[in-house]
Amino acid sequence: MKPSSTPQTAAARLQKISPLRPTLAIVLGSGFHHALTELRVAKKIAYAKIPGFPKPTVSGHAGELFFSHLGRTPVLVLSGRAHFYEGHDMERVTFAVRTLAAFGITNLLLTNAAGGINKKFHAGDFMVVTDHINFMGANPLRGPALPGLMRFVDLTDTYAAGLRRLLRRAAAVEKLKIRSGVYLAVSGPSYETPAEIRAFARLGADAVGMSTVPEAMVARQCGLNVAAVSCITNLAAGRSREKLSHAEVLATAERVKITGATLIRNFAELYGENHRPQRTRR
Ligand code: HPA
Repeated sequence: MKPSSTPQTAAARLQKISPLRPTLAIVLGSGFHHALTELRVAKKIAYAKIPGFPKPTVSGHAGELFFSHLGRTPVLVLSGRAHFYEGHDMERVTFAVRTLAAFGITNLLLTNAAGGINKKFHAGDFMVVTDHINFMGANPLRGPALPGLMRFVDLTDTYAAGLRRLLRRAAAVEKLKIRSGVYLAVSGPSYETPAEIRAFARLGADAVGMSTVPEAMVARQCGLNVAAVSCITNLAAGRSREKLSHAEVLATAERVKITGATLIRNFAELYGENHRPQRTRR
């Protein structure tokens, strides 16, 4: 990263692209990219053109940012993210979130693919994240104290109750049964062993994945309200007779893509109804 590439310079670049000033941003992970078909796009920009943004290398992660509307709600949509397992350091992995905060985003929805640990879960389920366990072996807030930001961040209410309620309502509109549970993040890129999954179950995890937690933590440091939803693309290691593969993750994501997209659209619409822009007082 060039020394000049700060979240503030990246945000200033974004502010020049479009006059649209959404307060909601959505990061699309595997299982949710079909939401792009629901967008009314005003402007889009490749990550490569935003200073400091990393280029995603995983198939199914495009690396584009959209100024758009979902229904009537203005929203910044990020298609693709940088993962820790790609070799990026935590600063890079969370650069986009700091940029969103500097841009003026106040609410962030993170989406991901995850393996189901909870025995009640099936491949193709969706899960509202209620809390997380950081098993990545790194903390994205480690490093020099940042001016104006908290050093010791409280993660008690990382996933905002109000936004979680909107996710459940977004599912209810479609009569979709949505799960809720604890997301445990590993660094990857290997999948887990069955013994690890049994251990994670005992620790209280319902699903396991390789993203989201660093972004959620940095977002909380920046004062954003956060929500996260997982697409359970497979049963975690040892939970079924199947072998684990990225192909299975992508196949399930493809099978439930319409549901994932609808969930996101409904969420954005409900968000718009609940967060109308403040009228300036006379
Ligand atoms: N483990 C970790 N990450 C994942 C999985 C899994 O089983 N499925 C999708 N992302």
